[in-house]
Amino acid sequence: MKKFNVAVLGVTGAVGQEFLTILKQRKFPLARLKLLASGRSAGKKVSFDGAEYTIEEAGPASFQNIDLVLSSAGGSVSRELVPCAIKAGALVVDNTSAFRVDPEVPLVIPEINPEDIFKHKGVIANPNCSTIIMLVPLFPIHRLAHIRRIVAATYQSASGAGAKAMQELEKQTHEILAGRPPVKEVFPHQIAFNLFSHNSKVMEDGFCEEEVKMIRETKKIFHDDTLQVVPTTIRVPVFRAHSEALYVEVEKQVSLDQVRSVLDGAPGVRLVDDRQKNYFPMPIEASHGDDILVGRLRRDPANSKGWALFVSGDQLRKGAALNAVQIAEIWARKPS
Ligand SMILES: NC(=O)c1ccc[n+]([C@@H]2O[C@H](COP(=O)([O-])OP(=O)(O)OC[C@H]3O[C@@H](n4cnc5c(N)ncnc54)[C@H](OP(=O)(O)O)[C@@H]3O)[C@@H](O)[C@H]2O)c1
Repeated sequence: MKKFNVAVLGVTGAVGQEFLTILKQRKFPLARLKLLASGRSAGKKVSFDGAEYTIEEAGPASFQNIDLVLSSAGGSVSRELVPCAIKAGALVVDNTSAFRVDPEVPLVIPEINPEDIFKHKGVIANPNCSTIIMLVPLFPIHRLAHIRRIVAATYQSASGAGAKAMQELEKQTHEILAGRPPVKEVFPHQIAFNLFSHNSKVMEDGFCEEEVKMIRETKKIFHDDTLQVVPTTIRVPVFRAHSEALYVEVEKQVSLDQVRSVLDGAPGVRLVDDRQKNYFPMPIEASHGDDILVGRLRRDPANSKGWALFVSGDQLRKGAALNAVQIAEIWARKPS
């Protein structure tokens, strides 16, 4: 099997670290690995699969002889460096929002639209984490009954805002338990023992950037501009894994058994729906796993074509690094 020279851009970050874990776990065919971050991390040592690597400062010249770049260093870094990587002949799978809604750039969830991978012109965008966690379990329902409208409320973990945000949740928890006032450095509000509306810019219409991403990206991935999405995104004091309460309206009348059976065993989905034991998806059980957990399946008593459900998924894995590596695996079987 062909092996690839891979660069991980943003390797010291929450997603970057997960890239390394997943490349090793899934035995990605690596020839050479290059680790890139900012000048702050240059020279630091990282061990991977029994060998020691030195982190290099990322720059326009970092991508010579690189086949694949797994990128997660933020939107502005991607806007600057992705064109350089493409020019050097690499494929970039980009985790930032820089290219997601560019019509020339495929936006891919392998369980949903893998065929879009081969339309790339050097970069493939990985969708927003809340969008991936929402759409993987909704896609089997969409194929069964055709979803027209989605209302979503998210419960997003601290690590969704990066490694420093995760540390802030831990630090504030200790501070509060010790009777000291919590220090806010990353989030605009106290995250420990609290929750608040997502910390992204709020637009004139009242939706925040995170919600706009979910709306636009869903339409692009499902190739359906008429699909309605109404999200409310909330940050909660959970370290890892996002959860979402979802309500969907479908076109076709279907039974609970049908919904349950399309979800049970669907790729990337695990049904956790035990009413007797009151046992449903939890972020703690989704953490470090590959599947999106789905349960609390209920028909809307006021609308026979309305369905409510609850999902939890590890946003650092399926919401970011795992989804990107899955894209790379499909590409690697037929690199172009
Ligand atoms: N966290 C998630 O759940 C998640 C999910 C999906 C997508 N994403 C997206 O993935 C990206 C990274 O997120 P994260 O959570 O991993 O953030 P993070 O923990 O803050 O890590 C950021 C990474 O970017 C690097 N970086 C910053 N400025 C740089 C520069 N000028 N040149 C090169 N590298 C630079 C940092 O390196 P230093 O350590 O050297 O500063 C670090 O490796 C963001 O665009 C985010 O929106 C995150």
